[in-house]
Amino acid sequence: MRICCIGAGYVGGPTMTMFARKCPDLMVDVVDINADRISAWNSDKLPVFEPGLDEIVREVRGKNLFFSTDIDAAIDAADIVFISVNTPTKTYGYGAGSAADISYVESCARRIAEVSKSGKIVVEKSTMPVRTADAIKSILKSSGLGFQVLSNPEFLAEGTAMKDLENPDRVLIGGDEDTPEGRGAIEALASIYARWVPREKILKTNLWSSELSKLTANAFLAQRISSINAISALCEATGADVDEVACAVGSDSRIGSKFLRSSVGYGGSCFQKDLLNLVYLCEHFNLPEVAKYWRGVIEINAYQKRRFAETIVNSLFRNIRGKRIAIFGFAFKENTNDTRESPAIDVCRDFLNEHAHLAFYDPKVSSLQICRDLGISMGDKRVEFCRTPYDAADKAHAIVLLTQWEEFKNLDYKKIKGAMLNPAWIFDGRNCLDHRLLLELGFSLRGIGKGNIA
Ligand code: UDX
Ligand code: ADP
Repeated sequence: MRICCIGAGYVGGPTMTMFARKCPDLMVDVVDINADRISAWNSDKLPVFEPGLDEIVREVRGKNLFFSTDIDAAIDAADIVFISVNTPTKTYGYGAGSAADISYVESCARRIAEVSKSGKIVVEKSTMPVRTADAIKSILKSSGLGFQVLSNPEFLAEGTAMKDLENPDRVLIGGDEDTPEGRGAIEALASIYARWVPREKILKTNLWSSELSKLTANAFLAQRISSINAISALCEATGADVDEVACAVGSDSRIGSKFLRSSVGYGGSCFQKDLLNLVYLCEHFNLPEVAKYWRGVIEINAYQKRRFAETIVNSLFRNIRGKRIAIFGFAFKENTNDTRESPAIDVCRDFLNEHAHLAFYDPKVSSLQICRDLGISMGDKRVEFCRTPYDAADKAHAIVLLTQWEEFKNLDYKKIKGAMLNPAWIFDGRNCLDHRLLLELGFSLRGIGKGNIA
């Protein structure tokens, strides 16, 4: 069997790598219109950083995993075609700012219809608005070949993608359960996963349930973070400690302890986009109360980012003009080089608006990417890129920790304190440092939802 994946991004690349590894007899082609991305996948420096990914790519690339820009040939040769292209929030026309832009998906469907000589199973892998499968189906129908459309949303989280792919909580396959052809397609895909995923974890649903489940799962996860972040503001006002509250609340087995880490706000390519998409769907189906409910999750996230930036400016005597601020971490979370919707973007933009001087250190994000995200040129005098966190903190007024990279926990903060200006501030946007130790060393400190310090 041969499969093809259109889109060699953060989802398509790692997912297909795991398919190739788990099924040595399966030929896997990953194709993309972006030639630079494909050459990076074929080089020693992969375009996506994920722990464990490099090793597996090296093992299977050229054997049964191939990266190429020859999209038409790969589609034609495949029995199953995965669509794993981006579906960003629309920036134009109807639904601008909330609906998902499915133009990349549509162009893939058209390409599949045009170049295929036989019917295939077409799988939506990217998160799609509910009923996108309908659009794909009707485009494919025009070819007259028998296509089956499945929805198989990916639940991997970046930074733990390889572990999540190897041992998923569940695999969801939505398809046309009412026809033998539909059931056959669902089973064909299920039997690939069944090579390494226990059968009871492979859930089969109709297409619309599958599409909606992905949006709902991300909305629930984001909602938990906004819930605890809303409480963090109250903790700061009352003297409670949000981590203690999260621990006490999360010990209730009905609530559970995961995803209750208060932070500067969630980021990533999925939460914001999927929530907006959900809000748009609710409005589209004339459910304004439901739309308003989910919009609240987004609003709390924006509030949290703003609140954190304001706390910092206020603590530095409401003036950060010309002050050196060390930015520890720019990725939206640890163990990834992805910066999409990173809270660091909004926080740093606020600082630049206040004319601060920013000294960045992130172990995986390039200076070019940071400049792109902030909409500034590489030579901009207001920013500086450092090779170590120590360089960034040298003569700084403050350190602002925005990504929970493990290395930040183990730095020599005594040395750092000695090199900073006084008062030496640390703003821990992830509550991941040892606050007691930092206070003992003489730092001024603010965490998130820590009403009892400073
Ligand atoms: C998410 C979903 O977890 C995944 O199932 C889906 O397939 C894609 O979207 P991802 O965005 O890659 O994955 O990472 P995730 O671990 O969910 O983190 C998202 C954001 O929330 C990050 O900015 C992270 O730092 C933040 N976060 C997470 C918190 O602020 N607190 C938490 O308790 C957990
Ligand atoms: P995700 O996080 O969903 O994987 P990415 O943006 O990382 O999103 O990856 C999506 C990839 O899809 C990009 O590399 C982009 O070039 C590719 N892509 C978009 N449209 C097409 C298309 N019509 N044909 C082939 N590749 C496409």
